[in-house]
Amino acid sequence: MLRLLSILLLFFCGHTFAQRLQTRALSTAATIDDSVISWRRDFHAHPELGNREMRTAGIVAKYLRSLGIEVTEHVAKTGVVGVLKGGLPGPVIALRADMDALPIVERTPVPFASKVKTIYNGNEVGVMHACGHDAHTAILMGVAKLLSGMRKELKGTVKFIFQPAEEGAPLGEEGGAKLMVKEGVMENPKVDVIFGLHVAADLNTGKIGFRPGGFMASASDMKITVKGKGAHGASPWMGIDPVVTAAQIINSLQTIISRNLNLTQNAAVITIGAINGGNRFNIIPESVEMLGTVRTLTDDDEKMIFARIKEVAIKIAEANGASAEVLLPYTVHYPVTYNDSSLVLKMLPSLQKTAGAANCLLVNAKTGAEDFSFYQQKAPGFFFNLGSKPVNAAPTSHHTADFFIDERSFLLGLKTLSVMVLDYMDMKK
Ligand code: NI
Repeated sequence: MLRLLSILLLFFCGHTFAQRLQTRALSTAATIDDSVISWRRDFHAHPELGNREMRTAGIVAKYLRSLGIEVTEHVAKTGVVGVLKGGLPGPVIALRADMDALPIVERTPVPFASKVKTIYNGNEVGVMHACGHDAHTAILMGVAKLLSGMRKELKGTVKFIFQPAEEGAPLGEEGGAKLMVKEGVMENPKVDVIFGLHVAADLNTGKIGFRPGGFMASASDMKITVKGKGAHGASPWMGIDPVVTAAQIINSLQTIISRNLNLTQNAAVITIGAINGGNRFNIIPESVEMLGTVRTLTDDDEKMIFARIKEVAIKIAEANGASAEVLLPYTVHYPVTYNDSSLVLKMLPSLQKTAGAANCLLVNAKTGAEDFSFYQQKAPGFFFNLGSKPVNAAPTSHHTADFFIDERSFLLGLKTLSVMVLDYMDMKK
């Protein structure tokens, strides 16, 4: 009986210890919120484009060091990685924030609106945090503050990844998550699991949007060149018309979505966005060039669609006596942002704990892409949306001059990432 009692007591104490840590985390979060908001306002007023986040990275690195976190700078050009070793053994959990802004002239009425201008790909542009990466950076600094305050009790290691150039690097440069991974961010110590959030200007503050499986699409660009034989427009039989061939290819590509894709499972998109060929009404040109994009929500769909695009383009060209060359991917390829389903199921109670079950919404997949996907190729990951639309306001669009997010949403982001870390550390024995 005594033994049973002591076992029960041990269990009970262990349980309350974990709970006490969580309660402490949640109440500490509230005291850090003001700092998160002021960091974010500062980043917002001083936005920097991809691979140029020197000021932002400097502030992040200095702050992490002040918390006693081990810091590596200049990862993937301007990235900052912080490693916080807990007092107890356990898994390595990575948390990721992106730091870059966009070449947009800000038009919001906030007092800390950006007035920054810079040169981008040879032109003068405004710079604006028009996707909320300023908030991501500030929230993750808050999480670092919170978790470093309980390092002795942490069962494992937290790796804070502050990443440059999520929106893409300037012309001719590498960058973003792909380069972070290439430079070894998922190793030393090896990351077991990675979490990340993105503010959503179309989802109310207080809500969290999540989706197991394909959450954001893979994105690839393509170039199709159709070669025929030039002729006078009045005597097409003397040539091989690449314009007519291109038209047939464009129409047939759409049947890949309607006829080959299992529409009950996932969506996909094929878009031809540019078609260039010829320069005069009565000349049949020698070639036509098309540019497009492909979006999918699973690797298998991507494989199937890539193969079918090549087959359709090449064989239609052949049937017309022409030839087609398909470059796919052409210059860009982002994998699917794929949330490991069992991980999502495991972590859902953490989201429900901080946001309330009714505020955790299963949302539709998005056909936009995210370079968080590169980390998910190395370890299971969970990327979700933090609702950041003021409740009574109309939504604004990401990547526009009017993009606006509600600062009151940040506290939930701070709490959720922190609780996910604590819960995950408790799960893995
Ligand atoms: Ni973004």
